[in-house]
Amino acid sequence: MNIIKTSKELKAYRDALNNNGNTLAFVPTMGALHEGHLSLMKEGFKHADQVIVSIFVNPTQFAPNEDFDSYPRTIEEDLRKLKEIGVSAVWLPVVEDLYPNGEEIDMHMSGVSEPLEGEFRPHFFDGVATVVSRLFKAVKPDMALFGEKDFQQLQVIRKMVKEHNVPVQIIGVETARDEDGLALSSRNAYLSKEEHQAAIKLNKILKDLAHGNIGEAIAHEMLLTAGFDKVDYCTLRNSATLQAEGLIDRALVAAWIGKTRLIDNMAVNT
Ligand code: PAF
Repeated sequence: MNIIKTSKELKAYRDALNNNGNTLAFVPTMGALHEGHLSLMKEGFKHADQVIVSIFVNPTQFAPNEDFDSYPRTIEEDLRKLKEIGVSAVWLPVVEDLYPNGEEIDMHMSGVSEPLEGEFRPHFFDGVATVVSRLFKAVKPDMALFGEKDFQQLQVIRKMVKEHNVPVQIIGVETARDEDGLALSSRNAYLSKEEHQAAIKLNKILKDLAHGNIGEAIAHEMLLTAGFDKVDYCTLRNSATLQAEGLIDRALVAAWIGKTRLIDNMAVNT
């Protein structure tokens, strides 16, 4: 596995691929890799000759009160996992590679980035769209893979690519779950044993909402009864616009247990 640390090394890797006519799939990550990330990489191998991963905890997608400093950083373990599944290269950019002029934001995807996560984390998608567009410019992949777990993020990135004519195919990959149905997330590492027991109920409540067995208000109440402390949203939306209008085909939830915020979503009637 190629461990790429500088922009010069990245360019050399990319040029060599071009010369060989090999296609490249890209999985951008913030590290703390789990099976969900690995499933994106495995899917990448189905679509391209080589898979490159980046590990970069992006400061511009965290608000000052969020967990940037405490976000899990497990680089040695991550590199071991990447080697094991056989990715071709991993790029470990530093802040200056992606933000040479300071931590500026130059992307805002109006519409799709504004409801739901956009209401509760207004800085978030601008930071994500900015860093992903910069990562794409540096890596120049043929395609990039993102998990459906961050469903709104996936739609924001699709819009960014379309509006800015970025020649990268975006592939969404089904959410990876543990045996209890809990969507895999790096932030699950924050949950205590008791909190984990409450967290696994989210999946069942979300399923009931998506299948039309319960409505939004009941689902909200059930989350609180299950042990969640606060529900940011628990709602049925249109999957393209994330608005409560048009075809309603996605159920989405964000809720807090203690200091941990969990999100999940599901297609309606699946
Ligand atoms: O989903 C993530 O891990 C991050 O938001 C991403 C896409 C790597 C951008 O920092």
